[in-house]
Amino acid sequence: MSRESDFYLRRLHSLLGIIPVGLFVAQHLVINHFATRGPEAFNNASNFMGNLPFVLFLEWFIIYIPLLFHGFYGVYIAFTANNNVQRYGTFRNWMFMLQRITGVFLVVFIAWHIYQTRIQKALGADVDYDMMADILANPFMLAFYIAGVVAATFHLANGVWSFLVSWGITQSPRSQQIVTYVSMVIFLILTVIGVQALFAFV
Ligand code: HEM
Repeated sequence: MSRESDFYLRRLHSLLGIIPVGLFVAQHLVINHFATRGPEAFNNASNFMGNLPFVLFLEWFIIYIPLLFHGFYGVYIAFTANNNVQRYGTFRNWMFMLQRITGVFLVVFIAWHIYQTRIQKALGADVDYDMMADILANPFMLAFYIAGVVAATFHLANGVWSFLVSWGITQSPRSQQIVTYVSMVIFLILTVIGVQALFAFV
């Protein structure tokens, strides 16, 4: 691949990680959080999202196509990256490596999650509070979903940091340090929202 096309693909990969995939993930966790108010509140929120006008178009253009590109190109980046944590055990190197590990884990988690929910819906199942409660009644599934949610919140929060660096928005060490703290807060807030929602089904 030429350097120039590599550059544009990297930029597109980076942008899609925030818009729309990152925004969708944050929105998805907030909708799931309605489960903490009971089955009816969750089913209403989820039906509202599922009955939006042009929902199939929205799903493909806001979720699947951007996620497929980000995921496939992400796997390529992850396996061609120079992980040098052993040589330079700095905080940023660990974040760099964890970004790749969580990305690869998310491929597995998201594929399984889509299979268990969206594909079952397409096959005629009712994807509602009761269905999620059945899935999460299995302790292995609960652990897998917690790992998936934490991987996604970490990947998104740390992704905000690297997005701002990739686009030249945070250049000075001080601005990068501030965004490190901001990304930690984003990670904590989204993790609490996501994990609380999971426990609301148990
Ligand atoms: C939950 C869904 C996902 C979200 C919200 C998300 C979001 C992001 C964001 C915001 C970035 C930062 C972009 C930048 O560095 O400029 C990023 C980077 C990255 N993502 Fe994802 N991503 C998701 C899923 C995936 C998947 C499935 C993979 C597959 C391996 C992946 C692999 C990567 C890699 C390798 C990077 C680092 C890119 C770099 O350093 O240049 N991501 N992601």
